[in-house]
Amino acid sequence: MFITFEGGEGSGKTSVIKRIEEKLIKMNYEVLVTREPGGSVVAEQIRKIILDSKNTSITDETEALLFAASRTQHLEEIVLPALKEGKIVLCDRYVDSSLAYQAYARDLGFDFVLSANSYALKHLPELTFYLDVLPEIGLKRISERDDLNRLDKERKSFHEKVRQGYLKVLEMYPERVIKIDSNGTIDQMEEDIMKVLQERL
Ligand code: TYD
Repeated sequence: MFITFEGGEGSGKTSVIKRIEEKLIKMNYEVLVTREPGGSVVAEQIRKIILDSKNTSITDETEALLFAASRTQHLEEIVLPALKEGKIVLCDRYVDSSLAYQAYARDLGFDFVLSANSYALKHLPELTFYLDVLPEIGLKRISERDDLNRLDKERKSFHEKVRQGYLKVLEMYPERVIKIDSNGTIDQMEEDIMKVLQERL
């Protein structure tokens, strides 16, 4: 089963994925946790180009194509083989990130981004958790970090647009994408996610 986690900055994805992984392992599932952009040697190299704060001249289109390239490589090298082995794959971000960030927040439009991601769209996850956080809360959570990347450093209005983009994605894929309120505690998020997982697994 292929499960992805989505959300804006400071939505708590990484912490909650760790907890879900531990829970599933205790339930005797074989689990692979991975992340985008990156997760394989080539994909991590592409990630560096995308997220480097010095790369201010990257055009929006190039950014979208690099995310799609990294995704394609990661899918082929990491995700598909693990699924073939019967593992549950928990992936931190996938194609919905490109729909929210590049298609919607960067105004590239859904057609351009969907076509760049046509390979990934052939392998959509069975389940996607969208961790919905208000930008003011999410940005406050990440404000203490000292490793903010090129996208973290965008203005608040950009992060608000990312959230609107995700809400559009929810409308586009109502069966697959489940919204989890992430303005509260991580315990509550974990409980809400596990409730859904226990029904689906
Ligand atoms: P990362 O440090 O992994 O952030 P996070 O912990 O928020 O996932 O950086 C990934 C950044 O790249 C994040 O700002 C979201 C952005 N992104 C896109 O804009 N499009 C994409 O398709 C993906 C996968 C990520």
